Amino acid sequence: MNNEIALKLKGVFAGYGELNILENIDIEIPVKTSLAVLGRNGVGKTTLMSTIMGHATLHAGQIEFFNQAIERLPVYERSRLGIGYVPQTRDIFPSLTVEENMLVAARPGRWPLERIYELFPRLAERRNNMGNQLSGGEQQMLSVGRALISDPKLLLLDEPLEGLAPVIVQMLMEVFKKLIAEEDLSVILVEQSAKLALQVTNQAIVLNRGQVTYQGLSQELLSHPEQLAKLIAAN
Ligand SMILES: Nc1ncnc2c1ncn2[C@@H]1O[C@H](COP(=O)(O)OP(=O)(O)OP(=O)(O)O)[C@@H](O)[C@H]1O
Ligand SMILES: [Mg+2]
Repeated sequence: MNNEIALKLKGVFAGYGELNILENIDIEIPVKTSLAVLGRNGVGKTTLMSTIMGHATLHAGQIEFFNQAIERLPVYERSRLGIGYVPQTRDIFPSLTVEENMLVAARPGRWPLERIYELFPRLAERRNNMGNQLSGGEQQMLSVGRALISDPKLLLLDEPLEGLAPVIVQMLMEVFKKLIAEEDLSVILVEQSAKLALQVTNQAIVLNRGQVTYQGLSQELLSHPEQLAKLIAAN
């Protein structure tokens, strides 16, 4: 039994400049836990990811990563400590090849390039193509691959299934399930599609207007669709 806490947020208020979006967020993610972050458009899901990563402005509260205070560290330090980020915007470098896109983020560890290509054979086929020649699905695979190659202990996935064809969604879901089951990794999965996210995670939170309105087991929400609908719809 491993009760080690990978990430802890305590009383976090954060936003952009003086604008506050997140209110009093308390979250604890034990090692090897996968957390779904649910909620409608604009409730603050991406802001939560940006706050963990260091892109947003922290107004109050603490953020700890494996018991180390990280709230004052710059983005690259948080990344170096082991937080991998797959942003909603994917952020592929258009004029670098698939392989170069990954090598800029590579660190020695559990995820050498060849292992990423095993996970996503499509990326191996496209290794010499430029970032701007990729389909949406391929870009998303590349964004996940680029996060993994930095050998993260915590992986932040911001709406990785958004706008993708059903066959790609299925494939990525399988990959996420595999990562969550087999790797020594904690995962935060932001998703609009609650059903998909709850299927692959063990814990969930619902955000509404920057506040956590539910915190519990994913299974609990999956088996109570009315409660889930109410939580997501609440104003
Ligand atoms: N860079 C920014 N500067 C100022 N306000 C912002 C910025 N980014 C987001 N916001 C505002 O913060 C609030 C939360 O936005 P956020 O992007 O976190 O929501 P979200 O839950 O990720 O939505 P979506 O599901 O559409 O991705 C919104 O009111 C949004 O307009
Ligand atoms: Mg978002």
